[in-house]
Amino acid sequence: MEYKIEISHLTKRFGRQTVLEDVNLEMEAGHIYGLVGYNGSGKTVLMKCICGLFLPDEGSVLVNGEPLDGKLLKCAGVIIEEPAFLKNESGKKNLQILYMLNHRKDSKKICDIMEKVGLDSKNRKKVRNYSLGMRQRLAIAQAIMEEPQILILDEPMNGLDRQGVEEIRNLLLEYKEAGRLILLASHNREDIEILCDAVYEIEEGHLCQTGLG
Ligand SMILES: Nc1ncnc2c1ncn2[C@@H]1O[C@H](COP(=O)(O)OP(=O)(O)O)[C@@H](O)[C@H]1O
Ligand SMILES: [Mg+2]
Repeated sequence: MEYKIEISHLTKRFGRQTVLEDVNLEMEAGHIYGLVGYNGSGKTVLMKCICGLFLPDEGSVLVNGEPLDGKLLKCAGVIIEEPAFLKNESGKKNLQILYMLNHRKDSKKICDIMEKVGLDSKNRKKVRNYSLGMRQRLAIAQAIMEEPQILILDEPMNGLDRQGVEEIRNLLLEYKEAGRLILLASHNREDIEILCDAVYEIEEGHLCQTGLG
């Protein structure tokens, strides 16, 4: 199924602070959309509104024409802030537990996903002893595990080494070619330039298109 997300006239306030004002954005399958802006400009808040984690004060998020209306965006793989992994378990165990919430145990599948993001499934190291980059790779594994058609990725390259960045870039391009819809927030210009079909900036609550990738 091909997805389309339409954000129309979305406004989000916290008390007296208007973080997003009359934001309009249309996103289609087979594209990577970049989201940029200073720290605190509202990138994460916008992503949370799209995922259904925040309710907008005004406006709406439509998924294939259907308003989200307080529901969670279920068909999406998401990285927003640090996922809550069980720190005293291995990376593999964490993915297995998450996967088993929706499916039966499938060890081969988990190993494949770990390999895809550059983690060694035989490594028994507990997540508490993972490096930042390893945790980020695990977060990416968690986001792609269910093969979602939509990916909402808030700074997914954080903490990754050069090779990790390269691998994840290739993964995202592969997903785009496969017709998935990807929204990517990043403060790394190069990631944005290489990956994105369209780039949007949030400035003082307003979203404007700043370029084509
Ligand atoms: N749950 C919240 N309650 C109150 N203010 C919030 C909340 N979440 C975010 N904000 C505020 O919204 C603004 C945008 O934050 P955020 O979207 O996290 O910025 P960034 O672009 O760095 O991701 C900031 O001023 C932040 O303090
Ligand atoms: Mg943020």
